[in-house]
Amino acid sequence: MDLGISGKRALVCASSRGLGRGCAVALAAEGVNLVMNARTVGPLEAAAQEIRTTHGVEVTAVADDITTEAGRARVLAAAGDVDILVTNAGGPPPGLWSDWEREDFIRALDANMLTPIALMKALLPAMMAQGWGRVVNITSVSVKSPIPALGLSNAARAGLTGYVAGTSRQVAPSGVTINNLLPGIHATARAEALDKGVAEAQGITEAEARAAREAAIPARRYGLPSEFGATCAFLCSQQAGFIVGQNILLDGGAVNATF
Ligand SMILES: NC(=O)c1ccc[n+]([C@@H]2O[C@H](COP(=O)([O-])OP(=O)(O)OC[C@H]3O[C@@H](n4cnc5c(N)ncnc54)[C@H](OP(=O)(O)O)[C@@H]3O)[C@@H](O)[C@H]2O)c1
Repeated sequence: MDLGISGKRALVCASSRGLGRGCAVALAAEGVNLVMNARTVGPLEAAAQEIRTTHGVEVTAVADDITTEAGRARVLAAAGDVDILVTNAGGPPPGLWSDWEREDFIRALDANMLTPIALMKALLPAMMAQGWGRVVNITSVSVKSPIPALGLSNAARAGLTGYVAGTSRQVAPSGVTINNLLPGIHATARAEALDKGVAEAQGITEAEARAAREAAIPARRYGLPSEFGATCAFLCSQQAGFIVGQNILLDGGAVNATF
């Protein structure tokens, strides 16, 4: 299927590896020119070069922390107006409800709620003015099914989800769609780090920790960044113009719910 977005321009945040990179690669495969971002310059430049070589699209790489005001300003200045925005950043650390203080919540809200909101506020006006735009926010399965140790993430992402629910209806008349993608466990560095934590806590190997987590997923495996990216690219397609304000779960069936 031709997604009809060749020649468009996308800002894909936090995209040197993992789910963000999966989205960048899938968009590039459709002929979308990219602005990629991550904090560490080496892996970011390497990812950008691989995408240029493989897909022949223009890629601008901006090494900055997207969750800080100054970093975000530099990324936005390099990006200019874009047709597509994919928001993403690292997730907050795990912990216990009784440990988190106000500053911990402020950090999580800044990274996983207020950063995507600031990016949308900056980029939506030009999308609306041209009558076409696509925004995909990478959130988490925790929006639908809380992960108790990730209370900071549960809280911040729920706030973003509420914001998107209303805002997506306000911008839809201008041909702009905003949707959220909710990853369950995917095979990325973040999932490996969580496996490592489980292995250490339970005195088992990382392979055993992964096998136990895979066994709890009806698909019996972790998701792939390429599958995640393909779904993102579809949400950014011409064909997805009637999908507005949705929270799309990619979890191999792990959340046991009818709706
Ligand atoms: N993988 C999963 O199973 C899963 C499940 C549920 C939710 N999620 C959420 O999905 C998001 C992506 O996860 P992932 O698994 O793809 O993580 P990952 O493999 O660790 O990749 C994270 C990417 O984001 C970049 N990054 C992190 N913090 C950044 C910042 N402040 N500014 C700019 N770039 C930043 C990293 O590069 P640098 O380190 O160089 O900045 C890297 O490119 C996270 O919020 C995570 O919590 C993941």
